[in-house]
Amino acid sequence: MINKGDLFPTSEVTDTFLPSEDNCSPEFARLENERLWPYVWQIACRLEEIPKVGDFVTYDIVDDSIVVIRTSPTEIKAYHNVCPHRGRQLTEGCGHAKLFKCRFHGWEFDLQGNNKLVIDRHDFGPSLTDDKIKLKPVKVDCWAGFVFINMDLACESLADFIAPLDDRCGKFEFHKLRYRYYKTGIMPCNWKIGQGFFNELYHVQQSHPQFLQHMDDYSRARAYGRHGASWYVGDNAIPLRRSSRLPKRPEPDIREHIIGITTRLQDELGAMVSERAYRALHRLKTDIPSDATQTEVLIAWGKILVEEAEKDGAGWPMELTAEYIAASHVDWQIFPNSIYLHTGIDNVIWYRFRPHGHDHDKCIMDIWSLERYGEGKQPPLKREFYSDWRDPAAKWGRILEQDFENMLAVQKGNKSRAFAGSRLNPLQETTVSNLYRSIRQFINDGPQAGTYWPIKDDAVAAK
Ligand code: FES
Ligand SMILES: [Fe+2]
Repeated sequence: MINKGDLFPTSEVTDTFLPSEDNCSPEFARLENERLWPYVWQIACRLEEIPKVGDFVTYDIVDDSIVVIRTSPTEIKAYHNVCPHRGRQLTEGCGHAKLFKCRFHGWEFDLQGNNKLVIDRHDFGPSLTDDKIKLKPVKVDCWAGFVFINMDLACESLADFIAPLDDRCGKFEFHKLRYRYYKTGIMPCNWKIGQGFFNELYHVQQSHPQFLQHMDDYSRARAYGRHGASWYVGDNAIPLRRSSRLPKRPEPDIREHIIGITTRLQDELGAMVSERAYRALHRLKTDIPSDATQTEVLIAWGKILVEEAEKDGAGWPMELTAEYIAASHVDWQIFPNSIYLHTGIDNVIWYRFRPHGHDHDKCIMDIWSLERYGEGKQPPLKREFYSDWRDPAAKWGRILEQDFENMLAVQKGNKSRAFAGSRLNPLQETTVSNLYRSIRQFINDGPQAGTYWPIKDDAVAAK
């Protein structure tokens, strides 16, 4: 199984240096395929994708395919998606099944994975026992409304794996969010290069300068075991004041910042703010006295958001406090391949990256705008797929297009013979170094390496 190996020593990734081979080496990708993906928890789908008994989603990761299926109103199961006869895959994509019927020779399996029919079974004789022809189970559990799978039956529990994210963000009630959009694109870069565009905030000042008029973008990042988080240094989740990088000027009314950020996120991303918040912007002027202080405006705006959400039947995560929100950071990297930014509260943007089969120079990128809707008010789920990310139908919006342009150039640059590796910012890109270090640790030392340990020194996180 997992052997100690020192092809890619963990110690070579530091807070300030990341060798380019982790992104470019076919051998590194091969080790990920052999030692990372089969042993780690990863998001397969959301619960809302399989609401009825028999609903399934097929999740593919490199050579493996897993089918996740609802087997009862309270139970989800996952199996390796392969017929034990000649190995045909049983499902593709998503759908509904009363049983799994193999399309090659017609063998059938119930939702519990037991074989129910072998055509001409008498031909096989007594050696073909039931246990040889069951579907092979995969571990499955849920967090934040997502169904996670792990092919390692001896793996740590999802609750242990996900710590401390549930402590930090559980009160945001992510399980009540629903898809506003679901977009998948094939990107011409290594999956970790794609990932590295969303797990740090250091790039905002250059890549997304349109935000500097409205927020102070200086950030920090830190590891939480294998996971990691980034946040803006300031007194709010998003510090609503002109960036300290800009020439000094008198601050405008804070309402201009709220309107500026909300409008840009709505128009240029379609995520990180709810459509409801966008529609309520006019109330900043109609409902709040013009001489209100910044704090008064922020408190009143918070009340407006809760009021609008309740009016809409969406509800609001009522256990949130200002302290909890501040400690929940802005941008979370879940080891190894998903990320979320939850400052919108009733809209969270979530990303997942996977290798594109054996082509380590390409990846499958999923972007999910998740929003809290009133009962039955969510749009119908439409999974958009773009084999060419340049397809104008994708309408990614300006913010993602700013990221994608750099993503392709970074992929190219990482292959340059003059580039040995990235010189990482040790304060703002710690999530990047921690991701790569944790992957090396995982492939060198096995799944137990880097298991979450309680973080004691939270002082740094508060700064
Ligand atoms: S491969 Fe499935 S029944 Fe033959
Ligand atoms: Fe970005």
